[in-house]
Amino acid sequence: MLREYMSDDTQAIKDRIDIAEFIGEYVQLKPAGVNMKGLCPFHNEKSPSFMVNRDRQTFKCFGCSKGGDIFTFIQEIEGMEFIEALKLLANRAGVEIKQQTAQVNSNQKNRIKDINLHAARFFYNFLTQMDAAKEARDYLTTRGITQDMIDAWQIGFIPDQWELLTQYLLKKGHGVEDLVAAGITIKRDNANAQTGKGFYDRFRGRIMFPIRDVHGNVAGFTGRVLKETEHSGGKYVNTPQTIVYDKSRIVFGLDKARQEIRTTGNIVMVEGQMDVIAAHQAGMKNVVATSGTALTQEQIKLLMRYAKNMSMAFDADDAGEKAAKRGIALAMETGMHVKVIQIPEGKGKDPDECIKQNKEVWFTAVEHAQDIMEWYIERALINKDLKNPHDKQQIADEILPEIIRLPYAVEREHWLQMLAQQLSIDTKVLHEDIDRIKATTTQKTGQTMLQEEPQKSAQKQDKLEVLIEKWIGLGLRFPDIFQHHVDMLSHILPQTTYGPLYEQIKNSYTQSSRINLETLRQDAAQAHNPENIVDVLLMKSEWEFSDIKEDTVEAQLIEFSGHILIHWVKQRRQQLEQEIRKAEQHGDTERLNELLQQFQQLQS
Ligand code: CTP
Ligand code: MN
Repeated sequence: MLREYMSDDTQAIKDRIDIAEFIGEYVQLKPAGVNMKGLCPFHNEKSPSFMVNRDRQTFKCFGCSKGGDIFTFIQEIEGMEFIEALKLLANRAGVEIKQQTAQVNSNQKNRIKDINLHAARFFYNFLTQMDAAKEARDYLTTRGITQDMIDAWQIGFIPDQWELLTQYLLKKGHGVEDLVAAGITIKRDNANAQTGKGFYDRFRGRIMFPIRDVHGNVAGFTGRVLKETEHSGGKYVNTPQTIVYDKSRIVFGLDKARQEIRTTGNIVMVEGQMDVIAAHQAGMKNVVATSGTALTQEQIKLLMRYAKNMSMAFDADDAGEKAAKRGIALAMETGMHVKVIQIPEGKGKDPDECIKQNKEVWFTAVEHAQDIMEWYIERALINKDLKNPHDKQQIADEILPEIIRLPYAVEREHWLQMLAQQLSIDTKVLHEDIDRIKATTTQKTGQTMLQEEPQKSAQKQDKLEVLIEKWIGLGLRFPDIFQHHVDMLSHILPQTTYGPLYEQIKNSYTQSSRINLETLRQDAAQAHNPENIVDVLLMKSEWEFSDIKEDTVEAQLIEFSGHILIHWVKQRRQQLEQEIRKAEQHGDTERLNELLQQFQQLQS
């Protein structure tokens, strides 16, 4: 496997990146003995079974059993291939990859990221340096965008020509098929890859905004038309779906906003790139946007890594609201607290305009964002007659589906009371209606969402195995105590799945007359399992018996071995009984006698 091949490089990277700090960007970790502990990002859980160990550079979840090192972690959480993860982490660690550079560069995702990087530079250099970009610069000035923002967001421009960028990137040595795969270049039906004829630029005559993933890699672009003409196409043109740009997974501006989102605990979600940039320029830095689409589940999960509160500003027109509502419903079901930012009448049609008119108005609007449920209730009451039973029912029918989305019972009850008060009825009545709604819709409610994804390790582990893990795990944590007890189970352990490890532990003892943990870890690493069994057992024990006192370890070890013995006898007896039955059926007296003798021995 490539990974093992490159173990020098991967080790150098691991040595430079603090795994707890790295994973801490995704998961809130708290110290727990020698480890850090948090809620697993790979499955839903209420009490933490996700552990990170700095010294051993590993993580492990004892709920869903995912585990490994930073490479495994980032591959798993970002859906990356190893070779992409390697490049990303090498950059971050400042490690130059000595071996296999060719392989890293030949990976198509890495090649496309490279193309995007070059394209972004091209657009930016064109905007800032070329005479032909004067109009574009003037346009940005009239829109109030400063040079600082142009630099920070690497805003660019491409003039209205057919193949300027494609030709430039081809000269740089990129392959035309890669340019097409990157979404930069469009291929005509009659295109010829040999001559390069029949390929043209997707973006023409546009102000260009790079769209970055959380790590700052350019994944794609959005281009705003500079001058609208009949053949200029839509106001915005975006990179299509590519292997590095999946618009349902990217949040514009998150790479720059995530720090501030963490510290404020709040995400400000707006609609457009211009809105994001205007807000950042005005000094509000926790602002991001989806690129003109309804929020997806993936985006919400990504955002939830950073904060659980989101204030949204969306177009008050019908379409904008409808699109927003879908995203809001998902966010609520996922457990996010959603608020609505309302720009006062006449203070601008979007955040960008509002900020340009008077940024204080925008800051106040964000500060006074209204809870989404309050907003829904308020709106449902407009033009309704609260003396009319039909109107009252209509209001309830509109609001109840929103309330049952909330995954938190206390909050649900709060809004039910609020609604009941407005309608001058008892909450009991609302509960009745909820039952009716639930019976007639297949709609997923918040409660069911949170319960989804049960503990994946549900594949029941053998009781005996669990006990052996506890015994060895605890023993490895206290090798000096353990060594006086290893022999205690020498008649049982070799016959179990932990036989090989057990032999190694005993060997280690015979060779150096003490249990050498380092050698054991190294031996286990040879096993070519993605996870080191020694590390996993240590961590599991540290998780289960985090605060065990050293003077109770011996008693605990003895207790475990007692249990192991009992369970082993029980298991063995069942096995023998089965075999005895079989021998009887086959009339195999010799075998039967042998088995019965074994059975006798077991009882004594
Ligand atoms: N959008 C898009 N394609 C379109 C129109 C819009 O992808 N044809 C996305 C863009 O990301 C845009 C956002 O939807 O930023 C909001 O659209 P709109 O309100 O029309 O644009 P603004 O952001 O207000 O752009 P501007 O202020 O430059 O007009
Ligand atoms: Mn706008």
